[in-house]
Amino acid sequence: MSPAEGRPQGELRPGDLVRLSCTSMAHRGLGVSRLQGRVVFLFAAAPGEEVTARVTKVRRHYAFADTVEVHRASPERVEPPCPYFGRCGGCQLQHLSYGAQLEAKRSVLLEALAGAGLGRLPEPELAPAADPWRYRWRGEFHLGPAAGSLGFTARAGYQVVPIEDCLIHQRALTAELGRLGEAAGQLRPRPQTLLLTLGQGGEQLLVQARPRPEAGQALVSAAQAAGAGLQLTDESTQLSYRGRQFRVFPEAFVQVNQGTLAALYEPVVEWLRPELPGESVIDAYGGLGVLSLRLAEEGARVTVIESNPVSARLCRLHADMHGFPELEVVCAPVEEELPRQGPARAVVLDPPRAGLAPQVSGWLGLAGPPTLAYLSCEVSALARDLRTLCRLGPYRLERLRLVDMFPQTYHFETVCLLRRS
Ligand SMILES: C[S@@+](CC[C@H](N)C(=O)[O-])C[C@H]1O[C@@H](n2cnc3c(N)ncnc32)[C@H](O)[C@@H]1O
Repeated sequence: MSPAEGRPQGELRPGDLVRLSCTSMAHRGLGVSRLQGRVVFLFAAAPGEEVTARVTKVRRHYAFADTVEVHRASPERVEPPCPYFGRCGGCQLQHLSYGAQLEAKRSVLLEALAGAGLGRLPEPELAPAADPWRYRWRGEFHLGPAAGSLGFTARAGYQVVPIEDCLIHQRALTAELGRLGEAAGQLRPRPQTLLLTLGQGGEQLLVQARPRPEAGQALVSAAQAAGAGLQLTDESTQLSYRGRQFRVFPEAFVQVNQGTLAALYEPVVEWLRPELPGESVIDAYGGLGVLSLRLAEEGARVTVIESNPVSARLCRLHADMHGFPELEVVCAPVEEELPRQGPARAVVLDPPRAGLAPQVSGWLGLAGPPTLAYLSCEVSALARDLRTLCRLGPYRLERLRLVDMFPQTYHFETVCLLRRS
């Protein structure tokens, strides 16, 4: 009998070992089980499994627990290939086959949107990653306590778990961790974090030292002197999409999974294509302008709204470089700029994880265009915004696409097409 079973209800405590049945998957890659009237969210369990788990946190209506032994394994369970899985905070789903990961994300998406009260949902199109491993071209690595070590924040707590390799980052990038960690460890003051971006087709590594980027030059020189490897720079690098080059600075957002970019952008182009020629389209939260240029290429008169001045400047540069001088770039917050814009045929929305500011979804509900394309990296924010736009507002959700930009983790992208009724 588990220690918790002898106590009155409600006395579950952290550290208790409990036997649980996992029935489904919830957001954040956690299995769902029930005990003593509580939902228990399970790390590293799969639907259909019976496990023993150690309770880590207890709240009034729910608790968290880590799987320590599997008594009845799901056919979808696989051995996590990464030695840091469970200790490192980066991945949550390595114990599931890739097909089961996709299915878990699909059910999380449908459940979140059902909870938003949207009625009948379109069947989500599923776009798996081009490669479920080695897909990240950018990563943030923290300096560990041991000299020369770089790693990620632990799953539990705030310590750094030093790593030698990370199986979801490009090998060319992680091969540089040794000499960069050594060089960063010598600097005074020591940087806390290195932001690494692989560019130039995998031949160059852009390095930013945080919180003092001015230490970047000394870091790059010291690492380069320490041995052969990729060409290192602390200034900028270049990524490409469909034959076009895009300049990247560390301060500017880039999509980390370059291999799955077309699966994210091209459906938006395809869905909007009939409406684009000669029409005004606003690309809100436009970043470097990669998607904006695709929309302009299809004949739309594109206005990009982007609040980060570095990204907005790069977007302007890219439009000029690639022959779209008429593309307009406004450097401002969407919540301020969108209501100032004239009527548009469509607005593309690609906000950060927090989703749309209430002023943005509210304004769209009142005065938005006939068509919206919404790209979301956080399903809970998407559900909240779709509730405003569709349940309370006049839009109808017409197409839904799940793009798995982040295999092995619980994160995914969703692309939605909305029409004004
Ligand atoms: C998820 S990224 C998408 C960028 C771009 N669409 C892409 O695919 O690379 C969100 C972008 O919105 C910008 N951003 C964040 N908050 C903003 C705001 N309130 N108004 C305008 N842009 C914002 C960020 O700087 C970032 O470039």
